[in-house]
Amino acid sequence: MKTGYNALFIPGPTNMPFRVRQAMDVALEDMRAPDFGDFVKPLLEDTKKVFKSETGQVFIFPGSGTGGWESAISNTLSPGDKVLMSRFGQFSHLWIDMCERFGLDVHAIEVEWGKGVPVEEYAKVLEADKNHEIKAVFACQNETATGVTSDIAGVRRALDAANHPALLMVDGVSSIASIDFRMEEWGVDVAVSGSQKGFMLPTGLAIICVSQKAMAMREQAKLPRTFFSWDDMERMNATGYFPYTPATTLLRGLRASLDMIEEEGLENVFRRHHRLAEGVRRAIFDGWKLKLCAHGPEWHSDTVSAIVVPEENDARDVISRAYERYNLSLGTGLAKVAGRVFRIGHLGWLNEVMVCQALGGAEMAMRDAGIMVEPGSGFGAACEYWRTAETAGMAKAAE
Ligand SMILES: Cc1ncc(COP(=O)(O)O)c(C=O)c1O
Repeated sequence: MKTGYNALFIPGPTNMPFRVRQAMDVALEDMRAPDFGDFVKPLLEDTKKVFKSETGQVFIFPGSGTGGWESAISNTLSPGDKVLMSRFGQFSHLWIDMCERFGLDVHAIEVEWGKGVPVEEYAKVLEADKNHEIKAVFACQNETATGVTSDIAGVRRALDAANHPALLMVDGVSSIASIDFRMEEWGVDVAVSGSQKGFMLPTGLAIICVSQKAMAMREQAKLPRTFFSWDDMERMNATGYFPYTPATTLLRGLRASLDMIEEEGLENVFRRHHRLAEGVRRAIFDGWKLKLCAHGPEWHSDTVSAIVVPEENDARDVISRAYERYNLSLGTGLAKVAGRVFRIGHLGWLNEVMVCQALGGAEMAMRDAGIMVEPGSGFGAACEYWRTAETAGMAKAAE
């Protein structure tokens, strides 16, 4: 029998704060009660703040991030529409796959896994598209499979430089509420997130924010949509209600999560994630002398680190030993990087000492699996960084 609790260090679902849990420990409620709308309207407004949007429209669907992807596509595009995308990990791949299944004409740029959105190539393609055949440009801000963060502001600059009117669609499932995201400033048209990562909730909500420009695209968008349609949601949300049964318990949890983010301060949430991630990187590079899947610091993700194991080892051994022997859940390698990487998710409700569990456990599991990292080396490097370099880490995140 395993004792203690499972240390959850996959990159989502993340640790759920006690306060969020308690907020959801309520009787099921009447979603048509006269005062339910008074709860929902400010909830939607406050969710918008996490996206840094003032003029956008937030929608909360029962579902997960994948539903958010579908909503973004089906409300704005028509069969055969040309879209620009890039593939550099399992999640950017899956969004491409969904667009193809919707019958879109996908121009997908293949990128080595470990790098992110190829902004310069996007710029060239957009510049060459003089007739504006490309209707939407897609970007995965944080590729969870490889631990790579991309430059969304750069994609906006590429669109602006080409004076291109395409919509900008961003997958922020593993970045929003953890890594800086600026809907308004970056001119993002649809930003997609889910409840089980930075929002620190159980899985079950697709949380998206939509620009007025994207809202207007519904007029001409011919793809079929029902469950994820914005039309009924917009009409009903205006009064604080939903067109079908909302996940009321999760909405109560979301209220607590938004309050916690607000109390900590969104910028402080980003700084904390950066500092924790920096400690993990010290463990990987300075302590264990291993490599990240991300090819360079410009791609380093502050929410997830995908750690490459030596050629002769299989990362799955590390993951299974961590789980079986130490009750620690690490993220597995997906698709192309299966067996090559294990991932430490460091997002959500975490502090240094909690991350120490993942580092200590990974260290033991690696040695059990025959990866002879120096005992205590990663753990020590991270702890020493957190102990001494707090201000340095915070200054970098604020740049
Ligand atoms: C970057 C990214 N996009 C999309 C998804 C899909 O979200 P979900 O599993 O909530 O449907 C995930 C899930 O991990 C993700 O990490």
